[in-house]
Amino acid sequence: MKRESTSYGDAGFSEFIKMAFRRNLGYDEEDFKKPVIGICNTYSEVNRCHSHVQPMVAAIKQGVLMAGGIPLEFPTISIGEMFTSPTTMLYRNLVAMDTEEMISAQPIDGVVLIGGCDKMAPAQLMAAASADKPAILFTGGPMENGEYNGQTLGACSDCRFYWQEYKAGEVSEEEINNINAQLAPTAGHCMVMGSASTIASCAEAMGMMLPGGAATPATVNERLRLAKETGKSIVELVEKNIKPSDIMTEKAIENAIRLLMAVGGSSNAVIHLTAISKRLGINLELDRFNELSDSTPFLANLRPAGEYQMQDFYNAGGVPALLKEMEPLLNLEEVTVTGNTLRENIEDIVVNPVYRNIIKPLDNPLYPEGGIRVLFGNLAPNGAIMKPKAVIEKRLLQHKGRAVVFNSLEDMENRINDPELEVDKDSVMILQNAGPVGAPGMPEAGMIPIPDKLLKQGVRDMLRISDCRMSGTAFGSVVLHVAPEAAIGGPIGLIKEGDIIELNMEKGVLDVLISEEELEKRKLDFNPPVFTDYDRGYPKLYREHVLQADEGCDFDFLTSNKSQTSMRFTH
Ligand code: FES
Repeated sequence: MKRESTSYGDAGFSEFIKMAFRRNLGYDEEDFKKPVIGICNTYSEVNRCHSHVQPMVAAIKQGVLMAGGIPLEFPTISIGEMFTSPTTMLYRNLVAMDTEEMISAQPIDGVVLIGGCDKMAPAQLMAAASADKPAILFTGGPMENGEYNGQTLGACSDCRFYWQEYKAGEVSEEEINNINAQLAPTAGHCMVMGSASTIASCAEAMGMMLPGGAATPATVNERLRLAKETGKSIVELVEKNIKPSDIMTEKAIENAIRLLMAVGGSSNAVIHLTAISKRLGINLELDRFNELSDSTPFLANLRPAGEYQMQDFYNAGGVPALLKEMEPLLNLEEVTVTGNTLRENIEDIVVNPVYRNIIKPLDNPLYPEGGIRVLFGNLAPNGAIMKPKAVIEKRLLQHKGRAVVFNSLEDMENRINDPELEVDKDSVMILQNAGPVGAPGMPEAGMIPIPDKLLKQGVRDMLRISDCRMSGTAFGSVVLHVAPEAAIGGPIGLIKEGDIIELNMEKGVLDVLISEEELEKRKLDFNPPVFTDYDRGYPKLYREHVLQADEGCDFDFLTSNKSQTSMRFTH
């Protein structure tokens, strides 16, 4: 197997010195004729969702050795949702760059990527797409269900739900503290169909993860067996030279989008799948999400849009069972990391009728269409995203209301609970300048809190619109990812207090009801913000090069898949 060599201007010396250091690792020269498998170990105690992965890494190594490969662990940066400021999305592209470069620069023939928390798996799939060496995604798996007082708890849908009830005065200080202690009860990532579970499920549907990889809880022995199988499979993939670009085809991405619609998954997946596609030279337009949503029934009864959680989904057969149910809708001839096609992977799967409340039949779905809708209109010329099935007050899906405008996250935080704020249950709360450039990093602030005074009146949902994102575990009448964003002159930044906003979900339209002339006039008056924060280093680079939400928020210089890796190896 040919390896790229470090050039000292002397190929013989280069090989000689590398031999010394391969021996230093404890291997014989002969060993390195076997497939060398990198294991991108993202273990971190700060990224809590990856703090338990070491035994799985050990099992992957065993699998690699059993299949005749040489496993070599290496680190990359590792980011978790809870302890990364200002938002992990600011760093997704940094993880993608780090991972791509390490896959490309190191003398490995294939790689297993240890994902888990929200932004890790998308970044790793983007990296795998660009580096294009054989790769398998493996995640640490979801947490087990939490429980309090006979009620199932899920991170972080219930973090949000109970916090709102606490603020409304419905839950006591003692109770909220007891609930808090049970919200994240075991190792693993969040256990509702939030962003982490959604991306893992999409990865499985597009063939980049072994069957069962998404839903198997972090704590069950089955996950160790999967880890070992992953180690064996990556060696086989290398031997067959099946690369990510062979697996993540346009049709495979379509399978992932259909899966996203059938599970009512995270809105964040729209951005990530777009970014992954662009890396592969696949032009995925937002319209395509609507087309696939229209023809994909919502089948998985999972929170935040449904009732159950990942542990229950696992018991029901997980992604393989759901894919079996969706079989007539899928592109079945796509090759996967098992080396087999999707059709072959799900051939013997039987959906257990006992769990029909979790995975609904195709002819009797939870809803006839998918869980995500892309909206367009004069407020969002390049699109906006909504999860209509996660809305609490369905009346808000067809709604006209007066805009209450916050011009930044800080402004929102300062004024949302001002008793003088002119807001009622029919107001439409607008958050500006929280997009990819504006914030920067497009934080998960789109589930704008209901003002305390309205919570106390019993209001639990309002129409909220922003150019930022929300957590995949969040819920409510929330319109996200409005593009173009306010900071670059998008119409959302031109909305004034008191403008009337109209959402027409039936038609998929989001408008501000002002004349075209008035909108044009406001555009001419727009002054781009002068940023005084994040004026150096990586965040500066991010602000200068990040693309808008409808384009996947990747960097403009990373979307092309071709030049970098092919040039690097032409010494
Ligand atoms: Fe990592 Fe929720 S905090 S997946």
